[in-house]
Parts: sequence; structure tokens; C-alpha cells
Amino acid sequence: MAKFFVLLGPPGAGKGTQAQIISKKCGIPHISSGNIFRENLQNETELGLKAKSFMEKGELVPDDITIGMVEDRLDQKDCGNGALLDGFPRTPFQAKSLEMFLTEKGSKIASVPFIDVEEEELIERLSGRWTCRADGHVFHLKYNPPKEAGKCDFDGSELYQRTDDKRETVEQRIKVYFDQTAPLIDFYRERGLLAEIDGSKSIDDVTSELLEVVNCQ
Ligand code: AP5
Repeated sequence: MAKFFVLLGPPGAGKGTQAQIISKKCGIPHISSGNIFRENLQNETELGLKAKSFMEKGELVPDDITIGMVEDRLDQKDCGNGALLDGFPRTPFQAKSLEMFLTEKGSKIASVPFIDVEEEELIERLSGRWTCRADGHVFHLKYNPPKEAGKCDFDGSELYQRTDDKRETVEQRIKVYFDQTAPLIDFYRERGLLAEIDGSKSIDDVTSELLEVVNCQ
């Protein structure tokens, strides 16, 4: 059966960093709702324009836009063996929709690694983050610097700072996380799917813990 994993955690916990590593090691696609929105913004599509104002304010994009977008992506052929979801679901309504979508496909969530990190550390991580234009690879000035300043190690593209990584927007994103997304911790715990991961450790240590949960080798 296809294996679907949901990476849960606050903004800056390291979901994207880890998803890129695990996706490569396990051969399943990394589906990031944030990356899909950012691609649409860059290409100035209708979807991107609808999402823009919410993202800039650090608010969630409404469920009716987000759910269809992610489910369309999950319907693509490369998700036949499963996927690693990063940033979706983010509300109980999204989580219930995903459950129904997977049930209809004869599939289900295999587990939900929850990467947790203290709030102060999140702000430090997001203020030093640099992201690659071409494929969303992430770096950090102090914790994970690129080999060459301003250039992605993987594809050589330009690194930029996300507009929603400004301090006041980061604080709003963290607030929104606690109000709207944190209820998913109990939602998945009650279903016996939650695997708690200490995200304050080094990137390599977090990867090792995650690989045990995902168990793809
Ligand atoms: P999204 O892109 O999903 O952002 P996020 O959830 O806020 O998560 P981030 O990408 O900021 O953090 P991350 O956990 O991936 O951390 P990273 O690995 O980069 O969403 C953006 C916006 O899109 C939302 O605000 C919303 O508007 C909209 N949206 C998206 N999905 C939606 C949905 N489902 N519903 C509604 N709206 C939605 O790491 C951060 C930094 O720390 C990096 O610099 C990294 O190098 C460094 N780092 C990582 N791990 C470590 C470590 N262990 N030690 C030290 N440094 C580390």
C-alpha cells in the first residue's frame, strides 16, 4: 500500500529541510503546500494571486483554495507509492478532508512525525533562512550555510529571503500555528499516528530520528 506521511510542526521547525532529505532517501515525493503557493506566486497565476495577501500577512490561505490544490497534486502519478506532506494539513477541516481523500483511494496516513522546537529558536531560524529560487532548497546563515554565499548548493540558483520571514510576520505565523494547527497534535495522537521528534537537535540527528519513524529502508 502507498505510504503517506504528514510532517507536522511550527514554522521554522525544519519540516522543509527534513522533507527534502527524507524524500531523496526514501524515493517518495515531497509535497509542500507552501512551495506550491510560492511557485504560483512567482508565475503570477490566478491561484498565486488569491494566496498572496494571506501569505504576506502570515495568515492561512482559505481551505477551499488549499485543499483542492493539494489533492490535485496528490492525484499525480508520482504519488502512486505515497508522499511526504509538508505544511498540509494545517486545520482540522483540512485533516478530515485528507483522511476522506485517502480513504477513497484505498489508502491512509502511515504516520505523523511532529517536529517540535521552542518559539525563540523558531524566530532565530527563520530570520537566518535563505531559500533557493529554483526549487525551495533551504539554508541557514549559521546552522546550514551554503558553500558559496547567495548560491544554492544543489542547483546553483539564487538564494533569497522569504518576505514572510520578517519578524512581525513570523510572530503572526507562530500565533496562527498555535490557534489553528496545533489542535492537529491531539487529532493525530488520538488516532495513534503521532510520532514526537525533538526538533532542537542538529539537522543530522533529527534526520536519524525521522528515518526510524518513516522506516523506508
Ligand atoms: P510554509 O511554506 O508551509 O511555511 P511554514 O509552515 O511556516 O514552514 P516554514 O517553511 O517556514 O518552516 P519549516 O518547518 O519548513 O522550516 P525549514 O526547514 O525551512 O507556509 C507559508 C505560508 O503559505 C503560510 O503562512 C500560509 O499563508 C500558506 N500555506 C501553506 N500551507 C497552507 C495550508 N495547508 N493551509 C493554508 N495556508 C497554507 O527550516 C527553517 C530554518 O532553520 C532554515 O534556515 C534551516 O536551514 C534551519 N534549520 C532547519 N533544521 C534545523 C536544525 N535542526 N538546527 C538548526 N537549524 C535548522
